Amino acid sequence: MCGIVGYVGDRKVAEVLTKGLSSLEYRGYDSSGVALLADGQTKVYKAEGKLQNLKDLLATKEDEIKTANVGIGHIRWATHGVPNETNAHPHTSNSGKLAIVHNGIIENFKELREELEKRGSIFKSQTDTEVIAHLIAQEYKKINNLQEAVRVATAQLEGAYALCIIHQDVPNTIIATRRNAPLLIGLGEGENFAASDVPAIIEYTKKAVYLDDNQLAVLTPNSVKIFDKDNNPVAVKPEMLPWEPIALSKMGYKHFMLKEINEQPDVMRNFLSGKLYSADEPIKLEEVKLDKAKLKDLNRIQVVACGTSLHAAMVGKYVIEELCEIPVDVEASSEYIYRKTVTDEHTLVIGVSQSGETADTLTAVKQSKARGSHILIITNRPDSAMAREADSLVPVNAGIEVSVAATKSYVAQLMAFYALAIHLAEIKESADKEYLKEIKNELLLLPQKIELLLTKTDKIQKCSRMYSSSKNFIFIARGINYATALEGALKLKEISYINATGYPAGELKHGPIAMLDETLPVLSIMMTGKVYEKILSNAQESKARNARMIALTDSTDEKLDDLFDFVLNVPHVHEMVSPIMAIVPLQLLAYYIAEFLGKDVDQPRNLAKSVTVE
Ligand code: G6P
Repeated sequence: MCGIVGYVGDRKVAEVLTKGLSSLEYRGYDSSGVALLADGQTKVYKAEGKLQNLKDLLATKEDEIKTANVGIGHIRWATHGVPNETNAHPHTSNSGKLAIVHNGIIENFKELREELEKRGSIFKSQTDTEVIAHLIAQEYKKINNLQEAVRVATAQLEGAYALCIIHQDVPNTIIATRRNAPLLIGLGEGENFAASDVPAIIEYTKKAVYLDDNQLAVLTPNSVKIFDKDNNPVAVKPEMLPWEPIALSKMGYKHFMLKEINEQPDVMRNFLSGKLYSADEPIKLEEVKLDKAKLKDLNRIQVVACGTSLHAAMVGKYVIEELCEIPVDVEASSEYIYRKTVTDEHTLVIGVSQSGETADTLTAVKQSKARGSHILIITNRPDSAMAREADSLVPVNAGIEVSVAATKSYVAQLMAFYALAIHLAEIKESADKEYLKEIKNELLLLPQKIELLLTKTDKIQKCSRMYSSSKNFIFIARGINYATALEGALKLKEISYINATGYPAGELKHGPIAMLDETLPVLSIMMTGKVYEKILSNAQESKARNARMIALTDSTDEKLDDLFDFVLNVPHVHEMVSPIMAIVPLQLLAYYIAEFLGKDVDQPRNLAKSVTVE
């Protein structure tokens, strides 16, 4: 799981490649490399660690690479083989003339490697990718046609790949191909591009073609030709990319994460625009292709997702069950795909994914589609592989999210679940109209209330400093905010590496309470409503065990100051929409703790934003 980029043209190739890679760092960042054709030779440069190390290396090689007009680049998130210089891409053939970069996993690499070794390939790395380089090189030796060699070699691969390939005997050319991994071709004037994702090329062109599975593209400075798996030419049908380069700037914030947290009120307004203007009107969700008859025919909903998206789905379950009288199951996609699930044409399957590329969720969605379920996709990437599986596609329109820790996409996914639940309830007439009106009204007011919260972060910053030396952290909540406790803990773990766990508050006494002592902070999420008093009692249990007590609440009860060491107040909201309000201070808490500890906030260790491997 990684990012790849390719360029043919007159610009400074190394610069185009490293810039492209820096916008793909959300796909991995443990090592990187480029291969260039310069002075008739394939030249490879690789570096372990952050991309800056590769940039520093290339800065010392300017003379060697100044004539390059073709190149490919890679940024890695290690799957096979530790992150070091040898395992970094590009990988090369025995002669070093052919170089490739790869995103994906080759499942039959062991068998292929044994075969190739018998036939004379000498392997340098522990990666699955290197087999592709040798396989293409051996085919090329036989047929002396690079395009055909790539076609024949990739037909032998099992698994997922997006590839860019160059060869010093085939100047001015990149071959690009894919199966189950994203790859798009950017079309320029006298130059062309290939990349795993839009941000890598958007600075240079807004015209692009998304390659389909098993298609192969041949790029030269003045032409792009596309072929299907049987080598038949395919018409090149460019689309305009709707992206603005400005979205990739930090806009004066120290980190992308802080910028993205602050964008949340606008993201919410953006989501509601065109869908909800007044609480008196029904919500408009034309993207959902389910009518009354189809809804009647459904007997369950299954939601599949990973990470932060899974937490959004948990809130979604609560809201849909509350308003729509349909049972909802939520499951981590990685669990869903390896068991017998009761899924059929009477099941609505909802896939939730910021990137729309997460391999586990994509597989879960494909499996349920094959069983005849209606597929509804909630994603920030309407151009993604998952979106292409959708019968109903609900884009969340949060804009590019760069920080690995998801923030604004979570809030946008929550908005999508509220809109969906209200929409289904309005079709089914399954909820009281006044109740729905109340919730719609709250949704309309929320962006402003969150804006208010974001202008007053002093207390959150102070709290973050006070608790930043904690080794462990517990978040407790009940009801609709149980998912908020999990998401708050996940944010803290991801970026500060503090061992944080979320529990349903009522479960504390069944085990976790044994851990409590005067060193352990317990943060109680106490939004007013049905379970407020209950969670207050659970907080008392922690106080009685001398835990360090933090409250997050929209209550103005002054007595809370006696029970808690620290009270983080947020504006009052209706309990049903409180997960949107409650998550924001927790995102900020995680952010300020990580920042205070000097961690790499936007690119935490070992993680990647888009996980395209199972
Ligand atoms: C990775 C990211 C998480 C994200 C999860 C699911 O683990 O680091 O932030 O929540 O993938 O990603 P998706 O794109 O499917 O929402």
